[in-house]
Amino acid sequence: MIGSPVTRIDGPLKVTGTATYSAEVWDVGQPLYGSIVGAPIGHGRIVAIQTARAEASPGVQLVWTYRNAPPQHAPDESAKGLGYSCPYPVLCSAEIQHYGEPVAFVVAETAEQARTAASLVELAYTSTEGHYDLAAREPHAFVPETVQGGFVAAESSVGDLEAAFAAAQVQIDQLYTTPYEMSQALEPHNTLAVWNGDKATVYVSTQSVAWAHARICSTLGVQPEQIEIVARYVGGGFGSKLGVHADAILAVLAARALARPVKVVLARQQVFQLAGQRPASRQRVRLGATADGQLTAFGHDVTMKASYRGDYIEDTAANGRGLYAAPNRHTTTRAVALHLPAGEDVRAPGDAPASLAIESAMDELAHALGVDPIELRIRNEPEVHPELGIPFSERRLAECLREGARRFGWERRRPAPASVRDGQWWVGYGMAVAIRGHYQAPTSVRVLIEPDGGVVVQSDMTDIGTGTYTILSQVVGEGLGVPHTAVRVELGRSAFPSSPGSGGSWGATNSCTAAHRACTALRAKLVAAAIADPRSPLHGKDPAAATVANGRLAIGDASESLAELVEHCFPNGVDALGSIGDFDEDPNHKAYALNTYGAQFAEVRVDAVTGEVRLSRMLGVFVGGRMLNRLTARSQLIGGMIWGASAALLEEAVVDTRFGSFINRDLAQYLVPAHADIPEVDAIMLDSFDDKANELGAKGIGEVGICGAGAAIANAVFNATGVRVRDFPITLEKLLPRLPR
Ligand code: MOS
Repeated sequence: MIGSPVTRIDGPLKVTGTATYSAEVWDVGQPLYGSIVGAPIGHGRIVAIQTARAEASPGVQLVWTYRNAPPQHAPDESAKGLGYSCPYPVLCSAEIQHYGEPVAFVVAETAEQARTAASLVELAYTSTEGHYDLAAREPHAFVPETVQGGFVAAESSVGDLEAAFAAAQVQIDQLYTTPYEMSQALEPHNTLAVWNGDKATVYVSTQSVAWAHARICSTLGVQPEQIEIVARYVGGGFGSKLGVHADAILAVLAARALARPVKVVLARQQVFQLAGQRPASRQRVRLGATADGQLTAFGHDVTMKASYRGDYIEDTAANGRGLYAAPNRHTTTRAVALHLPAGEDVRAPGDAPASLAIESAMDELAHALGVDPIELRIRNEPEVHPELGIPFSERRLAECLREGARRFGWERRRPAPASVRDGQWWVGYGMAVAIRGHYQAPTSVRVLIEPDGGVVVQSDMTDIGTGTYTILSQVVGEGLGVPHTAVRVELGRSAFPSSPGSGGSWGATNSCTAAHRACTALRAKLVAAAIADPRSPLHGKDPAAATVANGRLAIGDASESLAELVEHCFPNGVDALGSIGDFDEDPNHKAYALNTYGAQFAEVRVDAVTGEVRLSRMLGVFVGGRMLNRLTARSQLIGGMIWGASAALLEEAVVDTRFGSFINRDLAQYLVPAHADIPEVDAIMLDSFDDKANELGAKGIGEVGICGAGAAIANAVFNATGVRVRDFPITLEKLLPRLPR
């Protein structure tokens, strides 16, 4: 049952519109609506406030600015970790540190009244010159204290990179740049807060119920039992919903102040300004090699945008640390503070933009050497982790490369760039590899059998569209020997056992491993009760021989239905908790490098006249442990690959360096692929079981699909045209002047 490509158990609810998202909860009474006013300057301060017109506007219940908003707690400087549970105070200062920063908040009877009144809040500012340009401010770069919340080191060094690079027979030394990218979920960020006495229920669109809970409690300074979080259905996240934002804090504060439900939904333009972004990066990659293609030097120096409202630095410089066997290596991270909103996680933080740079550079090296790019990678496959010296739990990257080459028809590629022309199109093939870490974090899941025999699994884990409901039903169905469709999965409530939610590719394996353990514990309780129960056909039998199937517990030829057993022995039902700990405490995570891998392939056509790039085909071959559901896993991988195509060719949030705003802050102007942009895409998952990861043999595969996908396309564009674009995305104005005649 685990691994079967069954369709989503919540699919019918989704397609019939009966899955209730947080802004769609109506049984709590008619809510008031909040609207956030954002600063129209990038750096400066508020010097005058007039709210009288807004307050007099029809339906208005409340107008807040920093002068009258309720007091909130500030982040504790000592707080470590990813930071999504830290306080997030809003409307607490006259200082403006980025465009769009909340400066006023209006609550009214209807959404239209709130928006109208918001436009009547009059604020005067003094503007101070802001820093908005990463390249211009690079001389002011600093070494950040932590990268990726302290998960990884900012720098690493093995051997002597400088000497080895200088002595290398073949050298690649290039700068690659990646733009600001947005994790724009289809469902915008939103919150509905309902107070009942001194307790609130907060319906919020979040990837992590526990972090939403912790952030709201820590910001308001209320006790944990005062806040209940509900996030039953979440319309995408991709990192931007790991933490809750101004909509959540203001909805909860206003609902308390007014003693009425308050709903706040961010407008799409506000999601661009208020919900984080993937920081832009400048990446210098140095590769030194012998003439026969052995890497002797690997250097990766990353400069990344930071902000004045909280630092967020992606672990981009970590991506190459486990990749190729070069004896001399150095990776560094530097940050540049800008007056832009703080960055946040965006799918495959660090690894996605790093792979654009490193895998482009590897293609440049292959070209310089005259070696096939697949062969170059295979020649530099490491025996052990090249920086840590520990073995890989499983790697099989060479197998992915060979399998992908065979399926893709790589032998048809012409190594010389600009050598295939089909009418007005230049045609080219490209490839790249993907690597992504596998993580775990403390997670608990409860499995119970109700008095009537119903099987239920509960966790505060979320399903952000990825298939969590379904894979948990499969794991518990198998664990208790019932059809997966008979398992009721209850997610997204802070009252349920806690998890870090969906993120970092860890949600599926965290929650499923914990559920698996819960089933094991529950089976043990059932077996113990049955063999001790004189009414049971299993009475007195050997517990070690017990099995479950078809809704029955069996020992040898004797069996009893779970429903009967529970009715006899557990009239109030029976449950068990399954838990996993932090990966820091797991010896396998110290002894082995646990990653997922992939080989990405792309075929492109470039219009010889206009420079337009059209994708023809994409293929990814991945090894990522056991798949929990081959259908939903494949969808994750394909979704990642499409995002990789988007990063290569389309996506870029452009900063207006006069005001510090993202100019193209809607989904009409921020380009993402439409169906017509995406051709045949296939993802192959090699059979695998990584026993170092967990007893399910499964690893996180949510993010490996985006890694390397964009570089495969960039490399295909080079193969098609001979033009190397190192400034992503590869748009036609960068190609056109350089296309062969
Ligand atoms: Mo992911 S970027 O950790 O949601």
